[in-house]
Amino acid sequence: MPDAPLVRLDRDGDIGVITVDYPPVNALGPGVAEGIIEALKKGNADPAVRAMVLIGAGRSFIAGADIRGFGTARKRLPLGERVYDILDAATKPMVAAIHGYALGGGLEIAMACHYRIAVPSAKVGLPEVLIGILPGGGGTQRLPRLVGPKVALEMITSGRHVPAPEARTLGIIDEVLPADADLRAGAIAYARKIAAARPLPRVRDHDERLAEAKADPGIFDAIRKSIARRARNQKAPYNCILAVEAACTLPFDQGIAREQELFAELENSDEARALRYAFFAEREAAKLPDMPVGVKPREFANAAVVGAGTMGGGIAMSFADFGYPVRIMDASKEALDRGMERIRANYATSVKRGSLAQDEMERRLARIQPVAGYDDIGDADIVVEAVFEEMDVKKPIFRALDKAMKPGALMVSNTSALDIDQLAGETARPQDVAGAHFFSPANVMKLLEVVRGAKSSPETLLSTMAMGRKIGKLSAMAGNTDGFVANRSRGPFNSEMVILLEEGCLPEQVDKVMVDFGYPMGPFAVGDLAGLDIGLASRKRRAAQNPNYRKLPIADRVAELGRYGQKTGAGWYRYEKGDRTPHPDPEVARIIKETAAELGVPQRSFTDQEILRRLLFSSVNEACRILEEGKAYRASDIDVMWLHGFGFPRYRGGLMYWADQIGVRDVYNQIAAWNQQYGERWAPSRLLRELAESGTPLREAKAAPMH
Ligand code: 3HC
Repeated sequence: MPDAPLVRLDRDGDIGVITVDYPPVNALGPGVAEGIIEALKKGNADPAVRAMVLIGAGRSFIAGADIRGFGTARKRLPLGERVYDILDAATKPMVAAIHGYALGGGLEIAMACHYRIAVPSAKVGLPEVLIGILPGGGGTQRLPRLVGPKVALEMITSGRHVPAPEARTLGIIDEVLPADADLRAGAIAYARKIAAARPLPRVRDHDERLAEAKADPGIFDAIRKSIARRARNQKAPYNCILAVEAACTLPFDQGIAREQELFAELENSDEARALRYAFFAEREAAKLPDMPVGVKPREFANAAVVGAGTMGGGIAMSFADFGYPVRIMDASKEALDRGMERIRANYATSVKRGSLAQDEMERRLARIQPVAGYDDIGDADIVVEAVFEEMDVKKPIFRALDKAMKPGALMVSNTSALDIDQLAGETARPQDVAGAHFFSPANVMKLLEVVRGAKSSPETLLSTMAMGRKIGKLSAMAGNTDGFVANRSRGPFNSEMVILLEEGCLPEQVDKVMVDFGYPMGPFAVGDLAGLDIGLASRKRRAAQNPNYRKLPIADRVAELGRYGQKTGAGWYRYEKGDRTPHPDPEVARIIKETAAELGVPQRSFTDQEILRRLLFSSVNEACRILEEGKAYRASDIDVMWLHGFGFPRYRGGLMYWADQIGVRDVYNQIAAWNQQYGERWAPSRLLRELAESGTPLREAKAAPMH
């Protein structure tokens, strides 16, 4: 049987309907644009057709160009012959009928149509900047003509998805159908209504909105300035601005040619490659390759959270933010009241900042129900335990949950370090237990590390992964190993940054290197934000357990002086009252110098590159150990964790992807050299050595079977 066509043309009376059918999201894969062109030509030539509708089959209109094709020798139609040009030349009205997503090339095709209608749940946008390129199908020229350059700049440099009702207000969409309307029928009726309209309204012919830029030429520099921090080290956002600027200064066709030039500068850039990698790495992380076929995640309708502290509150907010009713409990009424107060205050801050509407805050709050005890949560589909991170505190909770929860309830622990098997062992249903490691603040951070207990059932693991996705998280799977995958791979970085101080670095020097690299904050400033008391306690515990533990005397001394970070006004830095700006502190420099002298460590200076590599290579080595032990499925999962758990700059792909750009052999050789110089803590992992010997990139490393 021949393959079903990617694009088909059928007729409803005098209206031609072109349907794109390329699952799952109608990306413009090989043959799709050509199929649309062919259908358009046929429709134009058919005297029985008065107007046409372009619609997507399945869950979406068109999600954009096929991202997998970028950077390859893909076939590209020359300017003048592209689908947008054929649409411009159309002699009959074209209506784009949008549901799901019209993104990138999808919205660009819609903007080349004469009319656009949508269902209310549809979303439109030009997200190309998020994969390091710019809208290359005329989007930088047509969008400013529809919405004005200012809004176009905002949309194109942020890549945000705009809901259909807002798109209607902005002028991108002509009509939003009622929520219960049938899109195809509505679009056909609309097409019939406008079938005789002439001249055909082409976006390219409308320059009126561009006057905004002439009246205020400062808008381009203003947006450059406003994105400077977020866009540092990147080229795509700036090329996007140049392209919109061209729309305002050049005639349409020249603007399109300029868009092409600016696009060509980006397609194969390091940043675009890394961002494409990150896009697919995130989708790969959702896949658990070793689950039996046919197992499905359990559905859930509501959740419960035990523990109303900062983490518990943030987790409850995550459920509420995504529409799920959630009950929350704590050991005492006071703790619960305090927790609810904190939740309310967090939402109120968002309202004040303008990122949340007051009525939406009320709706979310109404979904969070404080309850007195286990009797009130027993019928929840999912319970997340989020109490103090101490085995002896968590164990009795799991015993109580085992008694209270209905059969089949998913029982997950928000632990960042404790052995999930021990917690599962407190229950008579370890198959229903898994780890769900949220990152702080839990309602903001995107990463959810799902921890696989020895007895967690495939259904439990799939359900926990799916739960994360349903509350807006990126779920990635980790084995049950000390620190799981994210924190374990980050551990050596945390030690190395303090060891650098022993050798002559200062916190502000290390932080500057990491901020220049692309982190939003340096690691010492992050430490001050999180609180240095936590690290002190965990180092003491580790030192007591392991005689070979590499102590960090400088970190201990700073914290032992009560310098716990921002909350005490001093940590690695000093802080003015009520201000979060870190100021280098001579007192810290003195502690560092004295301790280094006592330890007898020779002092020297460091290049930025050495600092960067000391921190990150130590973690690459540990990540390899994690893979070699079968505690993560793939290197790209570790990258996803670094992107979403630790603020690793996305345009560098992730820890392992970044290391691959240096080259696995160079990474190995450097680690081996540091092994000679510093001893055991730099011993290269077996997997890293093997990859270096065979010249296999880290991201292609084969992990041991997960257990
Ligand atoms: N190209 C290739 N594959 C794509 C794709 C695209 N544009 N968009 C989605 N996919 C694939 C995903 O990789 C995934 O594949 P998998 O099942 O094998 O893992 C599958 O489609 C489903 O995607 P999601 O899991 O992401 O599905 P969601 O429903 O969660 O999200 C979406 C849908 C919002 C459309 C999201 O997929 C998305 O953001 N896609 C990218 C959109 C985009 O960036 N478009 C612009 C492309 S560049 C462009 O158009 C250039 C032009 O200007 C010339």
